[in-house]
Amino acid sequence: MRYYFAEHVEAYRRLAREGLTQWNDLFGESWTYEEFPNRAFLESVLDRLVPGGAVLEYGCGTGPAACFLAAQGFRVDAIDLIPEAITLARRFARERDVDVNFSVQDVCALPPGTKQYDVILDSYCLQSIVTDADRANLLSAVRERLNGCYVLSTAVYTPDRVYEDGFHYDAGTGICYQQTAVPTADAIQLNGAWYHPHRRHLRPEALRTELEQAGFTVLSQDGGNVLATRRG
Ligand SMILES: C[S@@+](CC[C@H](N)C(=O)[O-])C[C@H]1O[C@@H](n2cnc3c(N)ncnc32)[C@H](O)[C@@H]1O
Repeated sequence: MRYYFAEHVEAYRRLAREGLTQWNDLFGESWTYEEFPNRAFLESVLDRLVPGGAVLEYGCGTGPAACFLAAQGFRVDAIDLIPEAITLARRFARERDVDVNFSVQDVCALPPGTKQYDVILDSYCLQSIVTDADRANLLSAVRERLNGCYVLSTAVYTPDRVYEDGFHYDAGTGICYQQTAVPTADAIQLNGAWYHPHRRHLRPEALRTELEQAGFTVLSQDGGNVLATRRG
């Protein structure tokens, strides 16, 4: 069980209880299902994608981006680790009469698969994948399945980013740690308190290096919005 499973389950339960439609609504932001945070970026790259192509979105949450692409005629498989998210995603897709193949899966532990995708989409999942091993597994799963464009939106470190009490940012690794009463195997101790890895906020140039080292060519990058292809 991933240490962040419970955090995400609780987030989606709260979303359902409060009648909200997507992850960012939990943080006081106000989006409609149709106006999700990476929509502008996705629209800006639409003309680089194979029309009606096969899409895999991992970390789809309640599915706003997956539904957007399905409504544009793409054939979309969308996965998330959290069953509660997928239940909501299926409901929202049904209400909008769009067809998306949603399933519960861990993108860091996908079974070997031969299906190739014209587009692989990440709408703010990668920052939740913290350890080097998990990120390497994810990027290798993307590379294996990609025959087209990797469209990635992820949180990155910027000097104006504020880490509240209870969080510690390690500038060397880009790992943001969260204080915890129950230390996990990869928790660290700081000033007598335990912290476990919570998010990974790389600087944009470190994100680019990570992608290049994992076998991608970056076609364009604006902070955490990246368009890449598989190299070789
Ligand atoms: C910040 S939320 C974004 C959700 C959605 N893409 C959106 O824009 O509303 C990150 C999502 O990644 C999912 N996630 C985190 N780790 C995952 C993993 N290992 N496999 C699949 N999904 C994962 C979480 O459950 C969560 O739904």
